[in-house]
Amino acid sequence: MAGRHLKALITAYRDKDDLAFRRAAQAIIDEEESKHHVALARDLRRLLASGSGLQMPIADAPLPEPPHDRDTDLPLADVLSADSMLDDLVLSPSLGARLAELTHEVPAWPLLDAAGVPRRRSLLLYGPPGCGKTSIAAALAGQLDWPLVTVRTESVVSSYLGETASNLSRVFDFAHSGAYVMLFDEFDSLGKLRDDPADHGELRRVVNAVLQLIDRYTGPSLLVAATNHQQVLDPALWRRFSEVLEVPLPTAEQRHILLERVLAGRMQPGTDLDPVVQDLDRFPHAAVEQAGHDALRLAILDGRDVVTASDLGEALVRTLSRPWV
Ligand SMILES: Nc1ncnc2c1ncn2[C@@H]1O[C@H](COP(=O)(O)OP(=O)(O)O)[C@@H](O)[C@H]1O
Ligand SMILES: [Mg+2]
Repeated sequence: MAGRHLKALITAYRDKDDLAFRRAAQAIIDEEESKHHVALARDLRRLLASGSGLQMPIADAPLPEPPHDRDTDLPLADVLSADSMLDDLVLSPSLGARLAELTHEVPAWPLLDAAGVPRRRSLLLYGPPGCGKTSIAAALAGQLDWPLVTVRTESVVSSYLGETASNLSRVFDFAHSGAYVMLFDEFDSLGKLRDDPADHGELRRVVNAVLQLIDRYTGPSLLVAATNHQQVLDPALWRRFSEVLEVPLPTAEQRHILLERVLAGRMQPGTDLDPVVQDLDRFPHAAVEQAGHDALRLAILDGRDVVTASDLGEALVRTLSRPWV
């Protein structure tokens, strides 16, 4: 730990300067994190947040019961504890940095409040399917050690359209009741759930209502919306989110890293991944992962514990022959 941070910490304590104390503590957390002391950084962040009035879940506390639709009694959301982390994903350096920045910001929200600077409470993730939008929401929950609450769009949009508005307010009341990563996944599908075109106007109003609720939200949770089709959202509505991030297709380098991770240590020495990586140009992460898993399956079912170039070639054919985006 750098001496100057320690000095700043003790000086802040002496001066009873809460803001300076939090800054120094945050600097220490950042430093520990940069040294990859992940567990220590996470514990420190939790300690810092627990003294800040931020609602933190008590470790091992039972997960809360989600709200239910009054008519069907179906749950309106799934509540899960997430243990994945951002480092588990292969992201562009700039996206990874923006997301890491957000995970540092959330525990420091009281610092922003004190300075009169708005918190980033809502995040819109957009990009082609299979590049990690849902996984990022889970990893944000993992990093923050908050439950992941995935809103069940199809249950919220009740068969009784009148019930939809009260379902939405139940979901947002829930988001006020604790600190969660609230995921509105495949957000745009809300507008396309019904076959009946007569319903579309009504459903568009539902989408707009959700966007307004997100815009006005002031509770303790982080709201995340994900869409594959950003073009179907009215551009005027994008500004309702405090952060908008593109989750793009992987570059060749990222495909290479991901494939290596999937095959970790189970490649025949000297196997060249480059041809497969090149052929998977413009395919999403999910396809690269699938190709790796297929190759592993072929090897294992053939009684081998290492993947050969021929396994990879066969896996590639399978991956290329199915639709991805
Ligand atoms: N950036 C990524 N890094 C590593 N694996 C990924 C990434 N994106 C997707 N995957 C893999 O593909 C699967 C599907 O990705 P998902 O997060 O559901 O994508 P999206 O929500 O964008 O459609 C994930 O469960 C994960 O195994
Ligand atoms: Mg998804």
